[in-house]
Amino acid sequence: MQNTENNPVTPQSTAATATPFDVNRIRQDFGILQQSVNGKPLIYLDSAASAQKPECVIQAMTHYYHNDNANVHRGAHTLGDRATAGFEGARKTVQQFLNARESAEIIWVRGTTEAINLVANGLAPELEAGDEIIVSRMEHHANIVPWQLVAERTGSIVRVIDINEAGELDLESYKNLLNAKTRVVAVTQVSNVLGTINPVNELITLAKAAGAYTVIDGAQRVPHGSVDVQALDCDFYAFSSHKLFGPTGIGVLYGKREHLERMPPYQGGGEMIERVSFEKTTFNVLPYKFEAGTPAICEAVGLAAAIDYMQALDRTGMAAHEQKLYELAQERAEKITGLRIIGTAEQKVPVMSFLIDGLHPSDIGTLLDQQGIGIRTGHHCAMPLMEWFNIPGTARASFALYNTEDEVNRLFDALEKIQRLFT
Ligand SMILES: Cc1ncc(COP(=O)(O)O)c(C=O)c1O
Repeated sequence: MQNTENNPVTPQSTAATATPFDVNRIRQDFGILQQSVNGKPLIYLDSAASAQKPECVIQAMTHYYHNDNANVHRGAHTLGDRATAGFEGARKTVQQFLNARESAEIIWVRGTTEAINLVANGLAPELEAGDEIIVSRMEHHANIVPWQLVAERTGSIVRVIDINEAGELDLESYKNLLNAKTRVVAVTQVSNVLGTINPVNELITLAKAAGAYTVIDGAQRVPHGSVDVQALDCDFYAFSSHKLFGPTGIGVLYGKREHLERMPPYQGGGEMIERVSFEKTTFNVLPYKFEAGTPAICEAVGLAAAIDYMQALDRTGMAAHEQKLYELAQERAEKITGLRIIGTAEQKVPVMSFLIDGLHPSDIGTLLDQQGIGIRTGHHCAMPLMEWFNIPGTARASFALYNTEDEVNRLFDALEKIQRLFT
């Protein structure tokens, strides 16, 4: 695994000023990790599904409910003003995290899934029969099904970028797919199954040359550092808070203002309107046009606390730590006869999907859980990818900034034992 991504990271790196990365200190911020599960110290290796939350996130949310809770944008009172300040301040934090031009380009959604559904619905009026939408074979269902639904409605066609055995995108296949009918290219920046970091810069440049919109699924990218949407020059970018050490129930859609202005609202209701009458309703300005109903206010405050937490870390040290964890995992995995890693791309985040001859992935998961080790098993919401590898699913260990080398060793000690006992 290399952490020298060809995707740009934001200029506001804190590496020079932050205290050096120290995993033991980091772990003190995550109280949930200090527990036993099934009589063994918990080893949490499922952060790609949902990451744990540092104490500051929990405290920010508790503080909000203890002190500031009210509805936003409408109260003529102090708590309403405080809630609004926290909520809009969080939007600003996200804007800076993504280096978006303005906070009006940051739309609150429930998560990556809703963000992509919003874009697919928003672009639907521009799609015609025969138009083409390109996704890749390694997409999460969240970046496949919304496009299939829109394709069905509009008569457009979903086309698929192939991958190679290592789990890397086949750029030739992509170039061959692009043509004058390509209207949308929707790809993940990092695969949740394979850990592959895709060369989204190149994908975006080529898509733009073909005149297509670019939609980047950043769900698995943001937990490993900030992103610069202006440098990427993508049209849309989506991520979920809960994978970024923030709360569930909130996520972000970034979109370029000119596209968001043109797109119709996603849902109707309060907050997203300018004026309602039975004759004609007009809509609010960005970003509120896309935010119908009372939003997830406390969750926005929590997400901002998570981003602040991440930004204050020595991120060069964090990347080196994650790389060390993956290299150790790889070294240990190679020593297990019959263990096959699914996803061996040159550029990866620390996610390891694997199979062991003679053991079903779900049995591996259950047996590890008995040892206090939490991994994920199954198709990981990527059935077309499983089909391509001709496998029913995988076991997946995903490592995050709070995992240790000792935990990696204990995972592989447990796997060796399981293999000895059950095969
Ligand atoms: C790459 C990727 N995209 C999209 C999603 C969907 O995210 P959410 O369920 O938070 O909407 C996930 C979740 O696992 C993911 O890994």
